[in-house]
Amino acid sequence: MKHVLLETFKQKYNHFPEVYSAAPGRINIIGEHTDYNKGYVLPAAIHLKNNCFLSRRDDGQVLLWAENFQEIGSFMTQNISPPKKRSWVDYIKGIYWCLGQEGMHVPGLNCLIYGNIPIESGLSSSAALEASVLNGMNTLFDLGLSKVEMAKLAQRAESNFVGVQCGLMDQFVSFCARNNSALFLDCETLQFHHVPLRLSKKGLSILVYETGVRRELAFSEYNKRRKESEMALRYLQKYRIRSYKEANPEILKEHRKDMEENLYKRARHVITENERVLKAFQALKIDDFDTLGDLLFQSHRSLRDDYAVSCPELDLLYEFGMNFPGCLGARLTGAGFGGSGIAIIRKEVMKRFSEEIIQEAINKKLPMPKVYNVRAGEGARALKLKGKIENLS
Ligand code: GLA
Repeated sequence: MKHVLLETFKQKYNHFPEVYSAAPGRINIIGEHTDYNKGYVLPAAIHLKNNCFLSRRDDGQVLLWAENFQEIGSFMTQNISPPKKRSWVDYIKGIYWCLGQEGMHVPGLNCLIYGNIPIESGLSSSAALEASVLNGMNTLFDLGLSKVEMAKLAQRAESNFVGVQCGLMDQFVSFCARNNSALFLDCETLQFHHVPLRLSKKGLSILVYETGVRRELAFSEYNKRRKESEMALRYLQKYRIRSYKEANPEILKEHRKDMEENLYKRARHVITENERVLKAFQALKIDDFDTLGDLLFQSHRSLRDDYAVSCPELDLLYEFGMNFPGCLGARLTGAGFGGSGIAIIRKEVMKRFSEEIIQEAINKKLPMPKVYNVRAGEGARALKLKGKIENLS
C-alpha cells in the first residue's frame, strides 16, 4: 500500500516525499470524561493508524490530498482564522494556527494522508490525523518538540481552533503509547506509566463494537457535560476540595447541600471513575482481568446513569456482555453518544459473541454494528525518507 501511496504522492506533487509519519487511533480501556476533569485515564493505542507523507514547500501554501476521500484541501500558512464549519482540513490548519501562537512560523507543505481508522466512530481518528501530521512536521522541519509538547499542542488545535473542547487523552496516547501496552495518565500532573496488556496470554481479546451511530449530538453535549462537571467542582471547591481526585463519594454526599441532581450525578461519575481507573491500573499490573472486566461494567453503568452519555446501541453491548458467559467486561469507549464500545472476551467465544450481538442489533432494529478485534499498537513515529524509499514496507 505504501508504495502505491508514494506513487500517488509523486503524481500529485512531482517528487517523492521527504518524510513518512504514522499515528494510531485508540480505545479507552477505562477513565471516561475524566481527562478534562484533571483525573486519571487508561487508554491504549490500537493497530489502526493514520499515515501521511510530507514534503516542504517554500511558497507559504499547504496542499493536502486525502486518499480516503479522494479530496484536495489547501490553505496559506499566514492569517489563519478559526473555521465556521468543521472539515478535515481544519485539524491541520489548527496545528499551523497553534504553532503560530507559539511563535513558530513554519513553512508550507505538500501532504498526502491515508488512514484505516473508521471516522467518527469514537476511536480518535482526528487525534491520529493531528498527531501524524504534527509529528511529520516536527521531523521534516526539525522543530525539536517533545511528544508531550506535541500532544498538548494538538489538543489545543482541536479544542481552541476546531472547537471540540476535548481533553488531552486522545492526543497523548496517540503520541506516547507503547506497543502491547495500556497507558496510565494522570491528566493533572501528566505523569504516565506504560502497563503491559497481557490479554492474549490469558486467552482473551479486546473487541471493538462500532455502533454505526453518527455522533451528531456529541459535540454540543460533550461541551455541555464539560461545563456541568466544572460547575459541580466549583461547589466542592467552596469546601477546599481542590479537584475531583481529592474527593470521594462520601465527601461529595456530605457537601452536596443544594447542588442540583444533575450536577451531583456528573460529579459522582467523575469521582467514582477516577477510583475505578486506579483499581484497573492495579488489576492490569497483576493480569487480573476478572476485576478489570467488572470495573468496565461498572464504568458503563456510571456513564449511562450518572453522566448520561450512553445510547441504546451502547447499552445493548453492555447488557449483552453482562449476560454472555466468556465476556469479562464491556462498556462504551470515548465520548459516547454513539461511536464505539469495547468488550473483553474469551477467544473461544469471540465468534459466537460477534454473530449473536449483531443478530440482537438486527432484532432490535438498531443500525448494523461492526464487531472486530483490536491489538494494542505503538505510538506515533516519523522518519526521514532520504535514501529509504525503496525499503519502506
Ligand atoms: C473524547 C475526547 C477525550 C475524552 C473522551 C471522553 O474522546 O477527545 O478528550 O474526554 O472523549 O473520555
